[in-house]
Amino acid sequence: MEKNETLYTTVSQLMQSGKGILAADESDATAAKRLEIANLPNQPGNRQDFRELLFTAPEIEEYLSGVILYDTTLRESTDQGVPFVDVLVARGIVPGIKVDLGTKPIPGFPNEVVTQGLDGLDDRLREYHAIGARFTKWRAVVTIGETIPTDVCLELNAYRMAEYALIAQANGLVPMVEPEVLFPGTHSIDVAEEVTTHTLNTLFTALKKYKVDLKGLILKSSMVLAGDGHKEQSSPEEVAAATLRTFKLSVPRDVGGIVFLSGGQTPKRATENLQAIASFGKQQWPITFSYSRAIQEPVLVAWQGRPENIPLAQKALLYRAKMNSLAQLGNYEGEKE
Ligand code: 13P
Repeated sequence: MEKNETLYTTVSQLMQSGKGILAADESDATAAKRLEIANLPNQPGNRQDFRELLFTAPEIEEYLSGVILYDTTLRESTDQGVPFVDVLVARGIVPGIKVDLGTKPIPGFPNEVVTQGLDGLDDRLREYHAIGARFTKWRAVVTIGETIPTDVCLELNAYRMAEYALIAQANGLVPMVEPEVLFPGTHSIDVAEEVTTHTLNTLFTALKKYKVDLKGLILKSSMVLAGDGHKEQSSPEEVAAATLRTFKLSVPRDVGGIVFLSGGQTPKRATENLQAIASFGKQQWPITFSYSRAIQEPVLVAWQGRPENIPLAQKALLYRAKMNSLAQLGNYEGEKE
């Protein structure tokens, strides 16, 4: 029981009102896509420079409660030799860690994938906790198509996620479960709503069966919106209504909190949609943002790998974090282009 009290404390630190979580947990391979925006090659030095810029940005602790790291980053330090974990903790920001090992195709189920990473997970998590991580993330990917997702894909991912969540909690780490229903596609918002509801219902059935303590768990969800290739893009009000309907039908009351991924939405759109969701008033769970691309993209554009641009890039980070913080509180009033 004592262990779970620790988990609840971490959840309430992460879900503080007016704050959100920065996802800076790109794997070393995926970091290539971010560094490309700054016109930089994907080299360890550039990855470290970028993370140092993020974690040392002035005042971010006003808007960020947590940061999700990747294995390599969790072990890295600033140029002055201060471990990133210490930098974050000193600012009251909770360090987290992505622990899944990416996806593999499911044989016999075209265009569907299952997330890897259960082998040796217990040992890895024990080490991550010792280094200073207090929460973890596991991402599953759900693609919408003519005949997908199949129940096999949803169930296989849900039960692996439940096993991961159990192992995380046993190690004193809050699990963040992230079944991402992909934004790319030509599907309508109605289809996205149906698929997301089904995905979340399948996930929570598995989590309950495995007796995962839902109070010590955070759901990281996609917003419900029409695919990026659909002829009609969803308005913030439509997104908010569909997303909250989905949660009410599928997320148990006792879940510790819900955070959103940005999923390829523009930074402004991700903020506007969060604001629309907050406008519906208080929900059964605390809800906030946990964006990667929608926060980091303007920072990379401003930085371009030049030391003299670091202050400007850090300002871009602070600005985006602040806009999302305002939206989380329902106080975002738009911004200039
Ligand atoms: P995006 O906000 O870029 O979708 O990333 C969030 C995340 O954590 C993906 O796993």
